[in-house]
Parts: sequence; C-alpha cells; structure tokens
Amino acid sequence: MKLVYQQMLAFFSIILLLLVLIGTFSFHLTKELVYHNTWDQLEGYAYSLKTEAMSVERVTNGKTVFALDTRKLRNYEMLLQNQAVHFTIYTSRKQVLYPETLGFQSEISKKEWAKLKKGDVLRRKNDLSWLRKSGTFKNNGRRQQKMTDILAPCFDSKGNLVAVISVGAKVSSLQVSFARVQRNLFYMLLIAAVIGAIFSYILAHYITKRISRLQKATRQVAAGNFDVQLPNKQHDEIDDLANDFNQMAASLSKSEAEIKRQEERRRQFMADAAHEMRTPLTTINGLLEGMAYNAIPEESKAKSIELMRNETKRLIRLVNENLDYEKIRSGQIILNCQNFEAMHVLKNIKTQLNKKAAAAGDQLEIEGPQKLEVYADYDRFVQVIFNITQNAIQFTKNGNIRISAERGFQSSIFRISDTGIGMSKEQLKNIWERYYKADASRKNTKYGESGLGLPIVQQLMQLHQGKVEVISQPDKGSTFTLIFPDKK
Ligand SMILES: Nc1ncnc2c1ncn2[C@@H]1O[C@H](COP(=O)(O)OP(=O)(O)OP(=O)(O)O)[C@@H](O)[C@H]1O
Ligand SMILES: [Mg+2]
Repeated sequence: MKLVYQQMLAFFSIILLLLVLIGTFSFHLTKELVYHNTWDQLEGYAYSLKTEAMSVERVTNGKTVFALDTRKLRNYEMLLQNQAVHFTIYTSRKQVLYPETLGFQSEISKKEWAKLKKGDVLRRKNDLSWLRKSGTFKNNGRRQQKMTDILAPCFDSKGNLVAVISVGAKVSSLQVSFARVQRNLFYMLLIAAVIGAIFSYILAHYITKRISRLQKATRQVAAGNFDVQLPNKQHDEIDDLANDFNQMAASLSKSEAEIKRQEERRRQFMADAAHEMRTPLTTINGLLEGMAYNAIPEESKAKSIELMRNETKRLIRLVNENLDYEKIRSGQIILNCQNFEAMHVLKNIKTQLNKKAAAAGDQLEIEGPQKLEVYADYDRFVQVIFNITQNAIQFTKNGNIRISAERGFQSSIFRISDTGIGMSKEQLKNIWERYYKADASRKNTKYGESGLGLPIVQQLMQLHQGKVEVISQPDKGSTFTLIFPDKK
C-alpha cells in the first residue's frame, strides 16, 4: 500500500474512533438529559396535583382521611392525557384512589414503599405498567406499556404517609426525542467523518510530499549531482533528515572534489616524473649513440663519459629522493630522535657549503648561542638544514646567507635567511608540491634540481611534529623558519 494511503488510514481511523466515542458519549448524555427533564416535569405535575386537588381531613376517631377534588383531578387528567402523561394516586395501603375506573398502574416494590415512607421522591426509567380496568392491581394481560415515572409521597401534618402520587409518561414518546437526537448525531458524525477524511488526506499528502522530495534528491545524488540542497525549516524529524541529507550531499561533494584533486595531482606527478627522467635519459642516449657511431671525437670521449655519469647520478638521486619521499609519507621511516648539540652541527654544515657559497659570491654566516640543544633525528636534522641552506645559496648571487638558532617555547628554532631572488605569493603556495620549480628556466642547472627538496623537508618536519614556515619577497630574499619541539 502506498505511504500516503497508509498515513491516511492511520489518521482517519483515529479521527473515526474519536468521533464514535464522542458520538456515543453525547448520545447517552442527551438521553440522560431527556429523562431528567421529563422527571422534573412529572414532579412538577405531582406537586400541582398535591397542592391543588388533594386535601387532608381529620376525622374524630383519630384516623386521617383523604378528600380528593375529583372535578379538578378529572380536569388534570384530561389536560395531561393530551401530553401522554398519566397519573395514579395510591393510598398508604397501596390501593388505587384515583382514577376509579381505567388507568395505568405500575408495581411499587416493598423497598420503594420504604423509601417513599422516608419521604424520598422516586424516579424510575423503564417501568412496565399495565392498563388497569377497575380498582384491581391485577395484570389482565391485555395491554402493557413501558413507562417512565416518578413516585411522590404525601404526608399529613404528623408526618404519616397518607398517599403516593405516581405520574408517568410513555417511554415511546421519549424515544421519538431520542431518535431525533440520534439522527442529528449521525449526520454530525457523517459530516465530521468526511471532513476528517479530507483532513487526513491533506496531512498524509503533505508528509509524503516531503518524503518524495527527499527521494528525488537522493536519486539526484545517486546520479552524481552532489549540489542538491533541500529546503529546511527545522520543525520536525523530516526536517532533521533533510538537514542530514544536505550535510551528506555537501560532504560527498567535498570528497568528490578531493578525489578529483588527488587524481589531478597523481596525473601531474606522473607527467613531471616522466619529464624529469626523460631529460637525463635523452642526454645519455644521445651520447651513447654518438659513441656507437664513432661520432664523438676521442678527446671528447672522457668528457662525454663524465656527463653520462653525472646524468646517471642525477637519475639515481631522483629515484632515491622519490623513494625517500614516499617512505616518509607512508610512515615507513622511523625517526631516531635524541637530544644533541645543534650549534656544532650547523658549523659542520657551514664548512661543507662554504665552497658552494663562495662560488656564488655569497657570505655564509652562523648566529646563535654558544650551545643549543635540539631534539631530533640527527641525520634528518642535517638533511633538512642542508637542503634549505643549499636552496638559499642556489637562489642568491653575491648576497648574504645567515643561519641563526635560538630557544623557543619548548622548542628550538632555526632560521635560514638569504638576500636572493625571493618568491612571489603564487610561487610560495606551490613550493611544497613535488617537482615544483618556481623558475622553469633553472631546470637542469649544475645542481641538478628536481623540485623534491622542500617537499621532503616538509614531510620530515611533520614527522618531527615540528613546523616549517617561509616568508619571502621577490628580489629581497627569503627566510625559512624551522621549529623542532622539545622531547615531551
Ligand atoms: N631560498 C629560496 N629563494 C628563492 N626561491 C626558492 C628558495 N628555496 C626554494 N625556492 C624555490 O622553490 C622551488 C622548490 O625548491 P626545492 O628545494 O623543492 O626544489 P629544487 O631546489 O628546485 O630542487 P632539489 O632541491 O630537489 O634539488 C625551487 O625551484 C625555487 O624555485
Ligand atoms: Mg632544493
């Protein structure tokens, strides 16, 4: 069954149940009201009869005798007969006083007599009465009538029961009123049920519409459109679901963008790696072909072999650095961290690079305290400082390169600044990418740059849980800051 019908059925059955309950309750309530009204009316008649048509007379031997105003009673009888109301007057000995001939008569139980003697007015709902022919109590079986009646006692001045007035109306005449009420209630229920059905349809339709909106959006996402967003008023659980859906679509969209970016990076990496390797291989291949066809003069052969060796070294370095980078990145390298004296290491690096710096016309200097402890992997620390200082020399002509060291907050800080060519903001963004070289024309210089130095530095610093930062201005110079945290 479709959800809309399921919902409708659920709403409608609740509405119907409520309507039936309210209907039954109202019917019983009105029935009770009709009875009470009738009894009030009948009691009113009994009171009138008592006050207007009956009087108490005292006889000398002490017995109380009733005197009835028969003329008035007859008038009453005629008047009430028109309204289908009958009355009977009993003596205290349960004998019928009035009417003398034909009249309705009901049984009064002993219990009821006892209550009447106490002065209670009795109200009875469905009492069977018989049509009495003359002053006898006997049911002659001829006519039987369902009556609702009241029994009202009459007392003399001493408080003795002298008579009981029974005033009754036919239940059948009340049933006409009940039928009317019933009919009205039925119509009312019918109208309410129709309205309820319409209302449940609207409500069910509203809910299912929101669900089918979600369904449509889900299909769109399944088809690869992650930009769908559902309206969300944050009113109920369906809105919560829509909210979750939006978040899911957003994160799917993000991951798709990330996958695309990764794919692009991989593609770029493959292209760059192939490009990097092609250059030395082409050089080697050219030289080998020249040798094979004796196209290289004897005196140049030694130089060619030297060139081939350099290119081969370059290839080996490229492959090694790539492997190193991948190893660091995939966590295959385990650092052997320890505290050691850093100033001494810096001086060593300076000694090694002095020649290179002099060749570029650069001044290389070290600045810092006498002694400075650093917590790092010794070899990797040397690799990082060496790499950055080498870059500084590489990109600075006739300038200054300063390696400075200081204590930071729970860390040791090293700065390598140069007065070289510097980098633009755009270049700074990319220097951590593999194979990136800000200045393409510098490819294949004598240093054999491959654009792997800084990415390896960055990975190593991450492995040390440290940080590497750079500030640079074109034509002014660059400063690389390395922060090595202390042992925790
Ligand atoms: N001190 C610097 N001044 C100016 N540019 C720099 C400096 N350091 C790095 N760069 C720029 O960043 C790029 C990437 O540096 P990185 O060390 O990763 O590669 P590389 O030095 O070109 O090659 P490799 O270090 O692998 O031999 C360099 O090509 C250069 O353009
Ligand atoms: Mg470098």
